[in-house]
Amino acid sequence: MKEQLQEIKSRALANMQAAQDLAALDTVRVSVLGKKGELTAVLKLMGKLSAEERPIMGQMANAVRAELEARLEERKAELEAAALEAKLAAEAVDVTIPGAEITMGYQHPMNKVLQEVKEIFIGMGYTIVDGPEVEEAAYNFTRLNIEEGHPSRDRSDTFYFDDEDQVLLRTQTSPMQIRVMEQQQPPIRILAPGRVFRKDEADATHSPMFHQIEGLVVDEGITMGDLKGALETLIKRLYGEDAVVRFRPHHFPFTEPSCEVDMQCFKCKGKGEIDGQICSTCHGEGWIELLGAGMVHPKVLEGCGIDPEKYSGFAFGIGLERMAMGRLRFNDLRLIFENDIRFLSQF
Ligand code: DAH
Repeated sequence: MKEQLQEIKSRALANMQAAQDLAALDTVRVSVLGKKGELTAVLKLMGKLSAEERPIMGQMANAVRAELEARLEERKAELEAAALEAKLAAEAVDVTIPGAEITMGYQHPMNKVLQEVKEIFIGMGYTIVDGPEVEEAAYNFTRLNIEEGHPSRDRSDTFYFDDEDQVLLRTQTSPMQIRVMEQQQPPIRILAPGRVFRKDEADATHSPMFHQIEGLVVDEGITMGDLKGALETLIKRLYGEDAVVRFRPHHFPFTEPSCEVDMQCFKCKGKGEIDGQICSTCHGEGWIELLGAGMVHPKVLEGCGIDPEKYSGFAFGIGLERMAMGRLRFNDLRLIFENDIRFLSQF
């Protein structure tokens, strides 16, 4: 029995040493000290021993049990420490590794130009207003003095929602003039940027959706001189003091007189050609059309309850994409809508 105890002890000690984790160690514990363990089995045989042998063997068995239990605790502590060590090593953060680079987003170039334009007009006392993209024909056309049958009302040019051609995607920001004037008496000084929609095929200078910035000023004694002053301020702030602009007579149903404003082409400097080739930016024109403008038609004022005998006003509608192309010097409108980061990140 004595040898048996020695053997159990040395095998258990070896197995504890060999155990590489807490689960394996517990298996060793159960196999020796558990209810059905080897040592427990030996102790059960004690009863069969003689009265002299029993206390000696009992003592020995208890000593073996105590030694094994002590070693078990020790080994358990070792394995726990090793596990902690491994966990710390695996989870260690090396604070000296350079951080992953975060790429910053860019303001869209058109937004940038819009922001500049807004700031210039806010500086001149204008208020920024916003209005619906789904508009009534009454605001988009009729109340702007655009009569039934006018080509711009045609279904081939305008996106309508209904069979009666009464509800549409606004084709211009000019309906905002009506929306503001029917709400507010002069003095009025507003800027209304937004999206507009036309059934245009997309090419280098056209897109079915584009942006306009409408401006409207109504007060006593407003003249064409005020219009020129406001627009020249805008253009010189945006393009520099040496920018060359021209005011050209034009016709719009809602302004009288009306004009269009062009900027001299930044690419060919007004020549229309570069090295004998037609300039691709202005198509040989030498000028780039930026906006339409004029003095608000008396009929339009009257239709909004503003007395045209007392008040006058000017209005303008800027093509934001055109303005951005000139400001940022690129020559294909589609680049603005394609969302190619290689293009957008340049500004
Ligand atoms: N709405 C016109 C267009 O889309 C542009 C325009 C012309 C706006 C004259 C105006 C204006 O306010 O007075 O072509």
